[in-house]
Parts: sequence; C-alpha cells; structure tokens
Amino acid sequence: MTVHSPVPLTPRMSDLVGDLTSESTLIASLVDALGSPLNLILPQQIRRNVDEFARTMAVHGLEGSVYYAHKANRSSALVRELADTDARIDVASLAELQHALGSGFAPDRIMTTGPKTPEFLWLALRSGVTINVDTVQELTLVGEISCAHDLPRVDVLVRLSSFTSSGTTISSRPSRFGVSTDGVDAVFSVLDKFRDQLRLLGFAYHLDTIGIPEKARAFDGCLLAMEEARARGHDPRVVDIGGGFGVDYVADAGEWDAFTTALSEAVLGRRDPITWQSTGYGLRNEGGRLRGTLGLYPAHRPVSGPRYLDSLLSTDAPNVGSTLAEAVLDNMHRLWIEPGRSLLDQCGVVVGRVLEVRPANEDESFVRLDLNARDISIEEHGVHLDPVLVPARIGERRPGAGYLIGNLCLEADFITRRKIWFDAMPEPGDLLAFVNTAGYFMDFSADHALDQPIARVVALSRNESGWSWRLDDQYWPDPFYRSAPCSSISSQEGS
Ligand SMILES: Cc1ncc(COP(=O)(O)O)c(C=O)c1O
Repeated sequence: MTVHSPVPLTPRMSDLVGDLTSESTLIASLVDALGSPLNLILPQQIRRNVDEFARTMAVHGLEGSVYYAHKANRSSALVRELADTDARIDVASLAELQHALGSGFAPDRIMTTGPKTPEFLWLALRSGVTINVDTVQELTLVGEISCAHDLPRVDVLVRLSSFTSSGTTISSRPSRFGVSTDGVDAVFSVLDKFRDQLRLLGFAYHLDTIGIPEKARAFDGCLLAMEEARARGHDPRVVDIGGGFGVDYVADAGEWDAFTTALSEAVLGRRDPITWQSTGYGLRNEGGRLRGTLGLYPAHRPVSGPRYLDSLLSTDAPNVGSTLAEAVLDNMHRLWIEPGRSLLDQCGVVVGRVLEVRPANEDESFVRLDLNARDISIEEHGVHLDPVLVPARIGERRPGAGYLIGNLCLEADFITRRKIWFDAMPEPGDLLAFVNTAGYFMDFSADHALDQPIARVVALSRNESGWSWRLDDQYWPDPFYRSAPCSSISSQEGS
C-alpha cells in the first residue's frame, strides 16, 4: 500500500477570525479564567452578514426581510446585536420567543416556525408575532386559542411541502414538516372558519437541500398557492423561502477534491487510511467496488450564503416564464428568508484545551481535548475542517498526525475521526481553535454528560484599540453608538 502525503482541509477564515486566532495570549487567558471548552462569538460579523443578504435582495429590486433562524446558536450577544439591525428573527421554541422578546425584538419582527406547544402558541398570539404554521391541525389550534382568549387577528404563514408540478422530473423529497401541496384545500377551510382570528400573510417552505432546481420548484409552488389564495379572496403578500443557503467552509476546491478522492481510495484499500478504523462516512468497499454515498456536508461551497440566494432568485420559475425574482416583483410580493447557518458564517470559534497526546499506533497519535463531541459537533453535522493550533509556548515542534478525542468515557467520543495532519504537533496545555463553528456546532447538541461543564460564551469585538470582550449575557449593543445622525440632537447641536 502506498503511503501518501497529508490531506488537509484548511478552513476559510475572515480577517476578523484570522486576527482573533493569532491572539494567543488573549485566548489563553480567557480559557484560563473561564475554562475549556470556550465559545467565542463575534457580533460584529453578523451585522456584515445581514447587510450582505439585504444587498442581494436589493440587487433584484426585492423588498423583504431577513429572519435569523435562532435555533442555529443560543448566544444572547448575537440576538441582541441583530435586534439593533434591520434583521428580524425566526424562533422555534417558547424559550427562543422569550429570548427574542427580551433582547429587543418587537413582536412585528418575530416569526415562529417549526412544531409548537400550546403554551408557545399562546405566548406568540398574546404578543402578536407572526405564526408560520406547520400543519392544518396547528392552524386550527391557533384559531381556537385566539378565539378562547378573544385575541386580535394574527398573521399566519402556511408552510408547504411535497411540491409537484407537471412536466418536470425533479423530485421533492418527503418531509415531516409542512402541509402537502395537495392538502391546501383544508387550509382554506380553516382560514374560512376562523376568518376573524387568522389573516393569511402568505406561504412558506424550508428545504434541507442544496439543490437549486428542487428549491425553485418549491418557490414556484408557493407562488401558485399565493395565486390560489388571491382567487379565494385572501390578500397574501409574503413568500417565505426558509433557510438552507449554506456556508463555504473550505476555500480551496483542490483540497476538498483531494480529500474526497483520498477517502474513496482509502475505503478501497488503495492508500493508507485517512480516518479512524477506515470510517467511510457513507462509502463502503463491496468486493473492490465503491458503494454508498458520501454523507458529509459539501464543505467547499463557493456558491453559498447570499451568492446562493442570488443564484436561486436568478433561476427561471418553472411555471411562470420569468426568473423567480421577477415573479415575486411582478406580483408585488415581499420575500422573507430564514438563514441560520449562513447568517452565522465566520461568527464564532470553539476553543478547547489539549490534555494529552499519546500514541494511537506507530505513526498516529490521539490528541485528547477538554471538550467532547457534543461541544463541537462537527462529526454529527458531517463538516470536516482542520483546527487552528494556539500554542502555549513558542519553540521547535515536530510535525505529526492523529485523531482528536474528547473528555467522555465513551469509545464514540471522537471530535473527529478524520485524521488531522499538524505542521506542529500539539502538546498538553496548547489550545485548538475550531473556526467558523457558530452555526449549529457550538451549542445545538451541548449537554452535561458526565457532569462536564458546557462552554461559557464570550462576545468579542475589535476596534482601533484592539480586542475587547464581555460574557455573552453581559453583552448589549453600545447604547450610545450612533450609526446615523439623530435629527433632534443634530438640530440642537446646530443651534
Ligand atoms: C423552518 C426553518 N427555517 C430555517 C432554518 C435554518 O436553516 P439553515 O440554518 O440551513 O439556514 C431551519 C433549520 O432547520 C428551519 O427548520
């Protein structure tokens, strides 16, 4: 068997993240004070990301709103920073709704999505936020709760799924969320029944796919449903196309291709393994043939985030004869989007302390970290990236390779089963920084297994005088910062 050279996956890093990870003294002192793991959040970055999405909509002449899918990160700093922008928020639980209300989002900037409890619906109705309903049953429940409490009429969006259209062969994958497009009649019946309680604002979809044709078809399905609603006497104005715009984690296409090729060759036994015990991530060797499908996130995604939105909007609407953006514009609809992962691009870093480095075999090491696979769930989410070494000391280091393991007494507690090649091998006391991990990796799965602490969260900002930080729950946008001149003050100042 031929032994090949390293197979790196170098993370794409913004200037802010690059600068932060080079601040080894600052990061080390934060981990000394607050423990490992530690989540670092960059509220400045999320502002930039909102602007990018807004600009993309404006380029297409569209009016609409960016709703941050809160589920992707629990940080208060991010939600409070967003409250200070034009962004809105999509909440998917009672606690997220409370968080949004308490962070400065007025109800007219909040939308609820996902499956909901009656209590969540009650608070949503009581506070007057928009409800994006998932099923006909939920729509009925919203009408009933509103009736029972004699509440003002509420704006509802109806999430659709299972899109079909004649003449196309694009399949729409089955989803357990949303009302099937062939069941929309039942929606109109409920809207008729509760006409004093429910106002139809529009239709929505959210698809967990990167395929533009599949999304274009769902988009088109919503536009058709809008027409149908108008024909039935409603006045819908919003098409909500959900999230799923994606992130480009690995900048170098060559590295990504080399990784997928090396993985296939390793599974077939044609090269040395690049994963622990030849984990195939969905690929397998059946009698010398490669079978299965790679179950990893396509970490090199140059068309992602706002660029993906742009590409979707520029796609022809299957049933209309214009682009999707033009179809929205011509009908004077508003466009809502719900990005989570992509709005968090470059907004956070998870840091963990190296506890031990010991041989795994002749050539490879285990690098044991003071965090576990739930604190940085890159394996669970199938996104592979090399960590950045934040060394505890300067000096000669030898190169090396190994696997990152966690602080739980579980065989399965691998931070990554993918082999990592280090130019400079970590040592106990060093830190490893997992960059671009704000979206889902840092706290979606974190728990207290073995009574291990979950990460504290620190919000960092950089200005002319350098970096400053606050604990996440102590972070608020600067109350005295003026992004635009205040008219009453400037007239007084002028007099
Ligand atoms: C309804 C809804 N909207 C938005 C999102 C955010 O998706 P993403 O983080 O891929 O942008 C999700 C994610 O699960 C979702 O369920």
